[in-house]
Amino acid sequence: MPLNISDVTNIPAVPTQRIITMVSEKLQATKPQPNGPIGIYDSGVGGITVLTEVMKQMPEEDVIYLADTARVPYGGRSAQEIIKFNREIIHFMLGQGVKMIIVGCNTSCALAYQAMREEFPAVPIQGMIGPGARAAANATKNNRIGLIATVGTIESKAYEIALTKVNKNIAVTANACPLFVPLIEGGFIDAVETLNVAKIYLKPILEAEVDTLIYGCTHYPYLEKVISKIMGPEVALVDPAEESIKHAKKAMDRLKLGNIKPRLPKYTYFVTGSVVQFQDLGSKLLGKPLGSVKQATLSK
Ligand code: DGL
Repeated sequence: MPLNISDVTNIPAVPTQRIITMVSEKLQATKPQPNGPIGIYDSGVGGITVLTEVMKQMPEEDVIYLADTARVPYGGRSAQEIIKFNREIIHFMLGQGVKMIIVGCNTSCALAYQAMREEFPAVPIQGMIGPGARAAANATKNNRIGLIATVGTIESKAYEIALTKVNKNIAVTANACPLFVPLIEGGFIDAVETLNVAKIYLKPILEAEVDTLIYGCTHYPYLEKVISKIMGPEVALVDPAEESIKHAKKAMDRLKLGNIKPRLPKYTYFVTGSVVQFQDLGSKLLGKPLGSVKQATLSK
């Protein structure tokens, strides 16, 4: 019979699950502090569109950004996998002392948001879908809304459910765009291939005569030039990040978590994949050098 560590040390064996729970409880016991950073995460560079909104609306806040580039794309993965990845990332974020978490990934919001809020009640967690749906419902005049997102987000029907809560008369035409994320992460934003793929994905939405289109994936605002060219100037393009960060700011004020000391904010980036690749593409998309990008190891 194999020897167990407790056999030789006389320390009672603690089951692994109990250890995980103990670490989790210890991390959660630390109360969010106003001078702590905000945590934002995504599978890759998509969450930078959310970060940009944070820089605009909350310029005094420090941010820890995590891109799970070793496992991008998230869009075709099961709910079970997405929940596991989100759990690992939130543990990492709590270890960094974040005071609020902004889920800069719609697929995570659609498949793991509720589970994460239940598992981590001590930290405020802000999502994209509710605010995005409200912004789109406000923008539409003909009650016809288009939605483009990953396969996971589309299949979850999370946007349809959120939109119906605001207005039962809204008709949604949704289409999954699985090639968009690999094209963006690969740096093909301005390529003719991307335009051609976008024409195919947007055809049913164009035919439905929507007057509003939701970017149901945080990567998609990078394709604004291509998408607005196809949809035309009459269609309002809604980026959920704008409304989501407005909401996060209000929550932060209400919880008295806003950073009150005026100073230059610090942005720290972590990746699970290649540091160099993220630094290059991220800097291009942000329009300025990212600065510090570090390797993250997520505990399983
Ligand atoms: N940007 C993310 C989203 O909003 C993830 C996309 C992906 O990795 O497929 O869904």
